[in-house]
Amino acid sequence: MSENRIYNFNAGPAALPLPVLEEIKESFLNYKGCGMSVTEISHRSVWFDDIINDAIARTKRLLNLDDRYKVLFLQGGASMQFAMIPMNFLANGKADYVNTGTWSTKAIKEAQMMGKDINVVASSEDRNFAYIPKNIEFNSDAAFAHITSNNTIKGTQWAEFPDTNGVPIIADMSSDIMSRPLDVDKFGMIYAGAQKNIGPAGACMVIIRDDMLDMVPDNIPSMLSYKTYASKDSMYNTPPCFAIYTIQLVTKWLEETVGGLEKMEAFNIKKGNTLYNCFAESDFYNATADEDSKSLMNVTFRLPSEDLEKKFIAEATEAGFGGLKGHRSVGGCRASIYNATEMEAITALVDFLKTFEKNNG
Ligand SMILES: Cc1ncc(COP(=O)(O)O)c(C=O)c1O
Repeated sequence: MSENRIYNFNAGPAALPLPVLEEIKESFLNYKGCGMSVTEISHRSVWFDDIINDAIARTKRLLNLDDRYKVLFLQGGASMQFAMIPMNFLANGKADYVNTGTWSTKAIKEAQMMGKDINVVASSEDRNFAYIPKNIEFNSDAAFAHITSNNTIKGTQWAEFPDTNGVPIIADMSSDIMSRPLDVDKFGMIYAGAQKNIGPAGACMVIIRDDMLDMVPDNIPSMLSYKTYASKDSMYNTPPCFAIYTIQLVTKWLEETVGGLEKMEAFNIKKGNTLYNCFAESDFYNATADEDSKSLMNVTFRLPSEDLEKKFIAEATEAGFGGLKGHRSVGGCRASIYNATEMEAITALVDFLKTFEKNNG
């Protein structure tokens, strides 16, 4: 690795593409010759207009969004969305939720505080969220169906999105947005905290279809209403400028260097399979997710004992691999391998895994 950078497997905030970081460094003191840092320019300036408009245009092209969809930037993280969704869309209606782990559980809790009729139509809690439920019966009169497309903590991911009887899906894509192409038609709204796959912490991307805005009542506070962000192009107040700038650079990298989301997906499959194959060939490591539900973003695994896991994390850290500890709520190990993770990091990790097994197995 160059410049003494480690192999970064953090779950979020997480690794960003090196060319993006280099461009930020370059423009940090004097953005495009304007005499100010990109963090010093006004959000009402032509420079920032160009940044936000380009970030939106690139997002629309990458995800194939038609004119019905608006791309917005909010603060408050994905967690704020857990509360805004029921506030905005459940004035009278009911909603379906699928519970696939910690983040879905939190979204359900917030919805239950506000919605009258919240149906958890499927859950994988019976087996510690190791799988994505199948053959779910959604209610055709629900205002929306909420899912978490990738479960960052449990290491599972929807391989295909469910048929919801025409009910718009609202998806928390915090940990896999832009990791693969999207058939957007099924989605009424998509949201993602930026800090895993598309930028630093501080911005949450919301992609919303115009018919969803018709459900939003007028009697909710301005800063909590999607209508405010949509009608003011995310500029009702000061938006998270630096995070949006980084998102612009990441989407530029995705389009111009990677070559689009089909290519990104192929690369992510290659990276994920390399790691999962290493576990499949070993009696020492065990992937925790079911075969058909494995995440290509967060690879969760266990060693034969917690003592060995501690030793593994300590030696890995020493050897220059960061962020391999599982989430504090579940323990074990986790390699988060988002878009920016290079193949070099994966092969280095596989070599390390094999050596550790040889010495301790
Ligand atoms: C899938 C998912 N949803 C929501 C969140 C919460 O995001 P935030 O910290 O931006 O509120 C996370 C954070 O890790 C996540 O992985």
